[in-house]
Amino acid sequence: MSLLQVTNLRKSYGAHISVQDISFDIEKGRCVALLGPNGAGKTTTLRMLAGLLEPTSGMISFEGSRPGAEYRRGLGYVPQSPAFYGWMTGQEYVVFAAKLSGMGAKEATSSALESLKRVGLNNDARRRIGGYSGGMKQRLGLAQALVHRPRLLILDEPVSALDPIGRREVMELLREIREETTVVFSTHVLHDAEEICDDIILMNHGRIAEQGSLSQLRSHYSLPVIRLRTEKHKEAIQWLESLASKPFVLESQLFGDHAVFNVNDVEKARQTILQEAAQLEIPLLQFEAGSSTLEDLFMKVVGV
Ligand SMILES: Nc1ncnc2c1ncn2[C@@H]1O[C@H](COP(=O)(O)OP(=O)(O)OP(=O)(O)O)[C@@H](O)[C@H]1O
Ligand SMILES: [Mg+2]
Repeated sequence: MSLLQVTNLRKSYGAHISVQDISFDIEKGRCVALLGPNGAGKTTTLRMLAGLLEPTSGMISFEGSRPGAEYRRGLGYVPQSPAFYGWMTGQEYVVFAAKLSGMGAKEATSSALESLKRVGLNNDARRRIGGYSGGMKQRLGLAQALVHRPRLLILDEPVSALDPIGRREVMELLREIREETTVVFSTHVLHDAEEICDDIILMNHGRIAEQGSLSQLRSHYSLPVIRLRTEKHKEAIQWLESLASKPFVLESQLFGDHAVFNVNDVEKARQTILQEAAQLEIPLLQFEAGSSTLEDLFMKVVGV
């Protein structure tokens, strides 16, 4: 079942279009990564989903409600760089957030304590936020976003600013949270998405470049590839260039003394290449037959 439906969503600032007519569904119970490089439009998209930014055009429908209906109570949001009052304690902050969501004092306190416990901050709840580490602040942001038990949790780059330890803590926590709550989070690191997500939406320049389940995308982009490296001899380099026009080569990338070939028949390619190399006495340093990865796709789309 689709929890959130986005149709032709657009945000423009004057002539600049930050998010250009994107459409996607978020299924209930899934964990979705919004991937993309700096400036791709991730924050703009998530802020529109969270109801914090008015779309220029397009529709967002939550739990099948009519587009435009108020749904903010159903979701929790952690911004890219959450700002806290350092003088408040963690508990005061989460109680404050709970009250903002409409809870009375008693319920706010009990929900806040439960939420702080869930993110592992129960022992630090009475300390001032000013003394928290980056990882603790990010977990406090999560406690705030979870306190009213949202059906959808939206996180903008939850681990980008953290050191490896903080990153691990937050990723582990997200892994637990996603068991109970539908989660969408943005990142510019493919590895984060691969670690805990089911689906990815890959954005670049305000548009969706690819979307689908990780397994679908993996199998779709798992194409046979041959990687070759020779010594830096003129003849060897010429030979690499000549391989590009073989009938089994679909696409080639030549980098002087090494080359990557997308091939349609890996066995045929292997035989031909190795035979020719032996006949012509090409000084081969590396021969590898494998398949392209999601990383290759990401690099290609992002163009780095
Ligand atoms: N208030 C604004 N006014 C004008 N342009 C904006 C505004 N907010 C964002 N943009 C532009 O929209 C584009 C997308 O920005 P956005 O912050 O959504 O990207 P992002 O994918 O979150 O990037 P990052 O990885 O750096 O956080 C950028 O080109 C940005 O300069
Ligand atoms: Mg951003």
